[in-house]
Amino acid sequence: MTDTVPSTAESHAPDEAHPEGPAALTFAPSPEFARQANATADLYAQASADRSAFWAEQARTLLSWATPFEEVLDWSGAPVARWFADGRLNAAYNAVDRHVEAGNGDRVAIHFEGEPGDTRTITYADLQREVSRAANALGALGVGTGDRVAIYLPMIPEAVVTMLACARIGAPHSVVFGGFSSEALRSRIDDAGAKLVVTADGGYRRGAASPLKPAVDEAVAAGTPTVEHVLVVRRTGGDVTWTKGRDVWWHDVVDTASDKHTPVDVEAEHPLFILYTSGTTGKPKGIFHTTGGYLTQAAYTHRNVFDLKPETDVYWCTADVGWITGHSYVVYGPLINGATQIVYEGTPDTPHRGRWWELVQKYGVTILYTAPTAIRTCMKWGEEIPGGFDLSSLRVLGSVGEPINPEAWTWYRRVIGGDRTPIVDTWWQTETGAIMISPLPGVTTTKPGSAQVPLPGIAAEVLDDDAQPVANGQAGYLVLTEPWPSMLRGIWGDPERYADTYWSRFRGLYFAGDGAKKDEDGDIWLLGRVDDVMNVSGHRLSTTEIESSLVSHPSVAEAAVVGATDETTGQAVVAFVILRADAVTAGRPVEEVQQELRQHVARQIGPIARPRQVLVVPELPKTRSGKIMRRLLRDVAEHRQVGDATTLADSSVMELISAGLAAPK
Ligand code: WTA
Repeated sequence: MTDTVPSTAESHAPDEAHPEGPAALTFAPSPEFARQANATADLYAQASADRSAFWAEQARTLLSWATPFEEVLDWSGAPVARWFADGRLNAAYNAVDRHVEAGNGDRVAIHFEGEPGDTRTITYADLQREVSRAANALGALGVGTGDRVAIYLPMIPEAVVTMLACARIGAPHSVVFGGFSSEALRSRIDDAGAKLVVTADGGYRRGAASPLKPAVDEAVAAGTPTVEHVLVVRRTGGDVTWTKGRDVWWHDVVDTASDKHTPVDVEAEHPLFILYTSGTTGKPKGIFHTTGGYLTQAAYTHRNVFDLKPETDVYWCTADVGWITGHSYVVYGPLINGATQIVYEGTPDTPHRGRWWELVQKYGVTILYTAPTAIRTCMKWGEEIPGGFDLSSLRVLGSVGEPINPEAWTWYRRVIGGDRTPIVDTWWQTETGAIMISPLPGVTTTKPGSAQVPLPGIAAEVLDDDAQPVANGQAGYLVLTEPWPSMLRGIWGDPERYADTYWSRFRGLYFAGDGAKKDEDGDIWLLGRVDDVMNVSGHRLSTTEIESSLVSHPSVAEAAVVGATDETTGQAVVAFVILRADAVTAGRPVEEVQQELRQHVARQIGPIARPRQVLVVPELPKTRSGKIMRRLLRDVAEHRQVGDATTLADSSVMELISAGLAAPK
């Protein structure tokens, strides 16, 4: 029996609202799903009747407060919000201890699956002991409330434990994705002024041990004056170089510490974490989030958007804790809600391309949250791979990170969801902290490819250049028009950049940096970034940062980078470079230089930033004021007819570029 009803949408044909073409189908929630759903249509009415009261109610029912709050929102210091500011609480207590106190200590919090196949089962009671030990060890290493801790770990339980241990003592964590280079790590440690770095000897990726500690050693050697200790988890058993007095093994100090620890209650506005993300300039932004509002919205969205039933669901978000999705939907949201979840260390194709589906079958996963790029990769591998596993436990599927094209959406629902599961396409950002625009399963009639509606309690609009709301059927800029609990409180150490970046394009409104359209029903379709931020496999990369990296190479005179549409990764990095005369005359084959430049970027920023292509060109298209016209380069990278080039200072440049690229090598 299918429990959703596909119907042909007559009025719901946003042909021009989405580049992928018309959405042929809509999917109404099945009565069976709707009957048992956490969310009801009534939530929208409650939230719009009194937004403050609605959020206060969520904060009171979803969290345990050491000191209850009276104030809800203080917006007098806009654009910095204060939510529930006179309340006090502890994030780790909420995520762990209170579940044990409520008699759920035996419930599994984490089913860990290492890439080589090793497993660990961690109950809430285990987690309480482990987090307490780690909190005591952090204290013994001199980390106190307010100190920052950098975390550079693979997807192993210690990553979750360390984040919670930090939260337990009120030390903001700054997780740096394990795929980032030592230089990226160094600048993040330095910007946050971290006192401690927590890392591992390495982790497993694609069937091999991949070392992590050398990047920390390099970063600290290159200059991170605030770092006092490096705490190292033994994961792979690989060789590590050791700095006496600075480096400490996890098993020496955490495993031996007391498993009793009293959580430190902090003010609701106490910083919980910093997470760096790419902006339009080269320097990454340290987005920081505070405690009460962030946890409220993480828990609220996790419960309603995924319809979580903590007693029966097995939840799996495939994101790494190095990204915001891992913060909100691996650590805080699910654990606050007392969920049982899967944490998987490795890649989807190791040791075989059915690994994810094998895990879904093995653990009876009911809720799966992943990214369009992963779905498209699975599509490419063929549906017989997931078809070989029993996926009938799945009941809700989520998508995040970039627009999901209708083909991938319908494939996801049909092949993975057995033509049965609701799909929630969730739009949000590192800055928003939690999901903002998404269907509610059991309530919303879904449309493949659209994130559709702001959640109850959230207010969004699509504006034109003059800050007027666009009519249905039109495109414009996505803005958020009311403060929300999990909004960023700023950019670490740079309040001005915060105001400039997000609040100056449309005065008093938060500008997300995304383009969007409203269809004939007023539903929102995301159209991708409108600034110089690329989205590769759901990861944000700054064009400027990659350009700076290329230009730092001795062979490169000038560089321009664009995000070109890519079937699998959404966008791919394509770089156009002008080589220095001496590099050209050095007589090296151009392929060799191209390879070297790709490697150079991977080394400097991280493998995710490695350009798909480096194209050597004689000139770059520039306006009279010297601004590079990336739009024209994107046309070249996507093999399109080059668009209007009349504003170029030298209109023959595009012909030169195209001719050069067409010439046989
Ligand atoms: C994009 C990830 C369309 C968007 C949670 C946003 C999306 C950026 C969606 C934030 C979606 C995220 N549909 N686009 N469902 N989800 N994006 O900070 O461009 O890594 O601005 O946060 O990803 O990326 P970030």
